[in-house]
Formats: sequence, structure tokens, C-alpha cells
Amino acid sequence: PSQFAVFGHPIAHSLSPRIHQAFARQFGIALEYRTTDAAPEAFAAAVRGFFAAGGAGANVTLPHKGAASALADERSEAAMRAGSANTLTRLPDGRLAAHNTDGTGLVRDITERHRVDLRGHDALMLGAGGAARAVAWSLLDAGVQTLTIVNRTPETADALADAIGEPARVHTRYWNDLADLGSYDLIVNATSAGVLGGGLKLPMSLVGARALCYDLAYGAAAIDFVAWAKAAGARYAWDGLGMLVEQAAEAFELWHGRRPDTEPVYQALRATV
Ligand code: ATR
Repeated sequence: PSQFAVFGHPIAHSLSPRIHQAFARQFGIALEYRTTDAAPEAFAAAVRGFFAAGGAGANVTLPHKGAASALADERSEAAMRAGSANTLTRLPDGRLAAHNTDGTGLVRDITERHRVDLRGHDALMLGAGGAARAVAWSLLDAGVQTLTIVNRTPETADALADAIGEPARVHTRYWNDLADLGSYDLIVNATSAGVLGGGLKLPMSLVGARALCYDLAYGAAAIDFVAWAKAAGARYAWDGLGMLVEQAAEAFELWHGRRPDTEPVYQALRATV
């Protein structure tokens, strides 16, 4: 069987092996998909070794997404914009191509699984790190009307807004002013606060009457944000489990040329997360 792997640090609890095996079963494809823990200094060599030994494709997660994009020979537009990659494919000549499917995965989860049309939404992005960069362009492509980026460190928010380069649609505001910003239709939590175990103190006034609140993290890391959104009256409050499954489906399609049915895989994971 062809060999796939996900590289991260830590990586033990990754759901990616389960997701890709479930997708592969839908098509009767036999594959191996293992987790590989690589410290940052060992990452590039581990990836090169994996592909040199015949590896067919790799996923990459924290903290290696930036390094994955940097080590590749070619980059998709999404990987270039994000400055990071979550998927590596081997080109026919053996060189490596970097892709970032996180943004497409997020938008697919919202617009196809949940059937919410993002066009015309005024969106607020909390955070401006790697996760925010990976999804910001996709939200704009999906038709959000304005994107306001707020980050604890304002320079990073400004740098992301500058990189997007659409001053009529993309603005930055200060974290300390969150209580004065009014309300939004879409609020994306792209901070790692939940992952790191620190709580965010967010004003409920941010949540508009028809607001969709979405945490890019899933499970325990998203509990506080989702609870806040529900308490604030959000119409929808979701974690990022659907995004996880959809970004995997995008990677699967890059590797195998086929699009899996994500719904049964999502439902099976939802029962355990
Ligand atoms: P990731 O790849 O998960 O995005 P990252 O690139 O380290 O990780 O980005 C983490 C993001 O979460 C940043 O926007 C960070 O804000 P700073 O740029 O000010 O560090 C944000 N973040 C993490 N903990 C936070 C907290 N307790 N409150 C607010 N923002 C936080």
C-alpha cells in the first residue's frame, strides 16, 4: 500500500490517520497512514527521508506548517498566501509541492455541511497567527463583505491586513477596543488561547443577531469559545471538527484524485470528540 504520514510535535492524538483510513475505505484504497513526531530541528530531514523512501503524501500540523511550505519546491496559491502548508504532495519528478487546505476546509464546512452562505457577512477574526493567515483569504473569497482582524499583538494584525491588501474590505482594530466595535455576523476564533488553556474575555456585544461563531480548534480547546457564543445568543456556535475533516478531504483529493464523502466520517468523529 502507498505510504502517507502526518508530521507534528506533539502528534500522538492526531485524528488524521483515522480520517484518511475512513476516506480510503470508501474507495477500497489500501494505504498506510502513520503519525510522525518530529522536533522542529529534525522536521525537514524527516520529511525528505519519508519521501525519499517512497512516501506518497504528507500532512503537516503544528508547529511545522511554516517549515513545510518553506522546504517545498513549489507552493500553491493558498500556501503562498498563508506562508504555511498542511499538505505535501510529491510531483512526478520527485520534487515536493506545498498546499494549504485549511481555508478551503473551513469554508466548505460552513457553506456545504452547514449550508450557511457567507456572502455579505461582516466578519471578525480573533487572532492573526498561522491559523488566521491560513483562512483569511478563503473567507474573503467566500464573499464576506468586511473582515476585521483583531489581535492581542496589533502589529501582527496589521501585517496580515497589509498582506491581503484590500483596504476597503479588511480592517484592523485593537484587542482592548473589542467592547466598542459593535456586532458581527461571523466571528472566527483563530487564537490559540483555548489550545493553550487560557480563557479569552470577550464582550457579548460582538455577537450579532444572526451571528455564526466558529472556533478553528475543536473539542476541549473550543469549549470556552463555543459556550461564550451560545451565552451571547449566537445563531450558530461551532467548533472546528468539521473543518478538520474537510481540510483532510481536500488533501485526500490532492493525493488520490477523488473526493470522499465527509459526512459519515464527521459524524463518527463527532460521537467521540
Ligand atoms: P496558530 O498556528 O495556532 O495560529 P500562532 O501562530 O502562535 O498559532 O498564533 C496564535 C494566535 O493566538 C496569535 O494571534 C496570538 O496572539 P499574539 O499574536 O498576540 O501572540 C493568539 N493568542 C494566543 N493566546 C492568546 C490569548 N490568551 N489572548 C489573546 N490572543 C491569544
